[in-house]
Amino acid sequence: MNTLVWIVIPYACLAVFLIGHVWRWRRDQFGWTTHTSQLLESRILRLGSPLFHLGAFGVIAGHAMGLLVPAWLTEKIGVSEHVYHATAVWGGTITGVVLVVGLSLLIARRFVNGRVRRVTTTMDKVLYVGLAAMVVLGMTATVGTNLLGEGYDYRETIAVWFRGIFWFSPETHLMTEAPLVYQLHAIGGFLFLALWPFTRLVHVWSAPIAYLWRPYVVYRTRRGSPTPAVPAPAAVRDRGLHDLRR
Ligand code: HEM
Repeated sequence: MNTLVWIVIPYACLAVFLIGHVWRWRRDQFGWTTHTSQLLESRILRLGSPLFHLGAFGVIAGHAMGLLVPAWLTEKIGVSEHVYHATAVWGGTITGVVLVVGLSLLIARRFVNGRVRRVTTTMDKVLYVGLAAMVVLGMTATVGTNLLGEGYDYRETIAVWFRGIFWFSPETHLMTEAPLVYQLHAIGGFLFLALWPFTRLVHVWSAPIAYLWRPYVVYRTRRGSPTPAVPAPAAVRDRGLHDLRR
């Protein structure tokens, strides 16, 4: 049973994540979008979407720090356990709350606006349920256990098991000893990855970050600009169109 839950399921989910993306790209390139509903409703979206994305970026950064960076490394570079713990718990709580507010607005919008409700697919509903479950479990662990509760050092167990998956040596006994909420959250995380390629989340891999450094597109009016001595072919063509329009 332990092997199934802590080894077989994670690898199966990672395989579905990878193969699922290839399948989706080959089968449904035109559906590879955010499927935005901004034109149907923008008032709640204007607040919910930035909050959701801001919270998600913070939570992803927190997961990278907590799961990928070993405890010995942070200690070696001079970050004490106390400083790490305070940063992780408060950082996780703040970004988590931002994520919860953003996600709640996005979900509420699907209920209250009839037009948005009508374009919500079954896969969207599955995605929102998955997201909500993961966020509730994650916040229960961070706020319930580590901020207000007795505390749990996941860097010695969950993080070691998690990295072991990528080194092909996951230590299952580390997970069997973890509190239930952490177990559910960790295995839920892999199931969530398996769901990813079949949802609108694929848009993450097509984020238009090149916009940040691409050259400006300059629009200029032709009116008032001096006529070149020898018109270039394109200018002749444009002039022709211009004349037709008059
Ligand atoms: C891939 C496997 C995953 C693992 C192993 C994992 C593990 C963890 C751990 C160890 C924590 C910190 C709990 C604490 O502070 O005591 C956490 C928190 C959290 N997780 Fe995950 N997680 C995974 C995937 C996900 C996914 C897919 C989501 C959301 C879709 C998510 C959302 C959250 C949230 C909202 C928190 C609380 C805020 C924070 O501390 O960052 N996690 N997770």
